[in-house]
Amino acid sequence: MNTTTEPFAAVEVIAAKRDRNVISDPMIDWVVDAYTRGIVADEQMSALLMAILLNGMNPNEISRWTQAMINSGERLNWSMLKRPTADKHSTGGVGDKITLPLSPLVSACGASVPQLSGRGLGHTGGTLDKLESISGWRADLSNQEMLAVLESCGAVICAAGAGLAPADKKLYALRDVTGTVESIPLIASSIMSKKIAEGTGSLVLDVKTGSGAFMSDPERARELARTMVQLGVAAGVKTVALVTAMDVPLGLTVGNALEVRESVEVLAGGGPADVVELTLTLAREMLAIAGISGGKDPADALKDGSAMDVWRKMIKAQGGDPDAALPVAAHQEQVLADRDGVIANLDALSVGVAAWRLGAGRSRQGERVQAGAGVEIFAKPGDTVKKGQPIMTLHTDTPERFARALEALDGGWSVGEKTAPRMPLILDRIGSQDGHIN
Ligand code: URA
Repeated sequence: MNTTTEPFAAVEVIAAKRDRNVISDPMIDWVVDAYTRGIVADEQMSALLMAILLNGMNPNEISRWTQAMINSGERLNWSMLKRPTADKHSTGGVGDKITLPLSPLVSACGASVPQLSGRGLGHTGGTLDKLESISGWRADLSNQEMLAVLESCGAVICAAGAGLAPADKKLYALRDVTGTVESIPLIASSIMSKKIAEGTGSLVLDVKTGSGAFMSDPERARELARTMVQLGVAAGVKTVALVTAMDVPLGLTVGNALEVRESVEVLAGGGPADVVELTLTLAREMLAIAGISGGKDPADALKDGSAMDVWRKMIKAQGGDPDAALPVAAHQEQVLADRDGVIANLDALSVGVAAWRLGAGRSRQGERVQAGAGVEIFAKPGDTVKKGQPIMTLHTDTPERFARALEALDGGWSVGEKTAPRMPLILDRIGSQDGHIN
């Protein structure tokens, strides 16, 4: 469906990328805008996305594509806030509940945290699904409500409104059904268009790598991280990326309410060592990049209860009851060690798929998730176990799901003589200095 008043025809743009040519700035501006307006049809955009996936884009094309997606909607502005803004984005992983303790923690140390988050799709969980297991908590806030929570609590975690990068919403849904998600230019522009439009002054990216991550190969994860840092810096957002491990689930819980419980443990000064270490590392990066130095150290804000105070206030401000008991699934089944030894491996993807099949995640947009479903882990790689000792407990409201969850775990963990090699928790840090990404 093209009209004579349009400056380009979609086929011209598709053919240019198909033939490995650079698509010009006006072409990019037009095709993103025309697709958002419904002038370029889904089948034409599908062809273009596939050509981009196969033939790539140069840095200027990626930057222009990102800007065109930002221009498709509103750009939020937090300049009225008294404190610098800092945000974090994770590319998603299994048991990755870091946003929950991190946002109130960074607020307790002096930055404002406008955190727009998403829902889970597939085996990786979504921050909003986790928080919705808290009785009464509301993800959908107007811009005015978001500002009010930010002003009163210093941190807000909520859903991105429909006005933010609408081109990305349409494009992401199309990529999901056309096998075009796994393109670095498309992933980087999708994530960064939303983060830049969200209006944060500084951004720390947590790019996951390993079996449970989008980018299982560390080199591809580094490339994605570099591309996103470049886009952030070019748009005037101070941006740093950490490449972090997702070969083993993060912490000891995977699933919505289970992960809220663990996050509250971290805010109370406890919690698993890997979750605490990553939370503190990201918090220090966010404070440094926001230009906040010499204030309270994040480790102290976990110990003295100030991060917990912000959490409680933030949950209440969004209608939630921080004291309400968290939902517990109706049925449990234990997975036991089959011999004496050490846990040799515990594969993030297997555990993520098991939690998903138990009802913690959704397979279609809009599906309801079970708040109590998921996997609780009692032993991680390197831990010594005895035959018959519980390794995991599976939780669900629908016990017919146990068999498929157990299938997902088959071969995903083992007890042996020694631990298989593991990734370090933090593999790399990518920032920018004097215009160079390093
Ligand atoms: N998350 C996004 O927002 N976009 C992508 O393309 C991938 C992950």
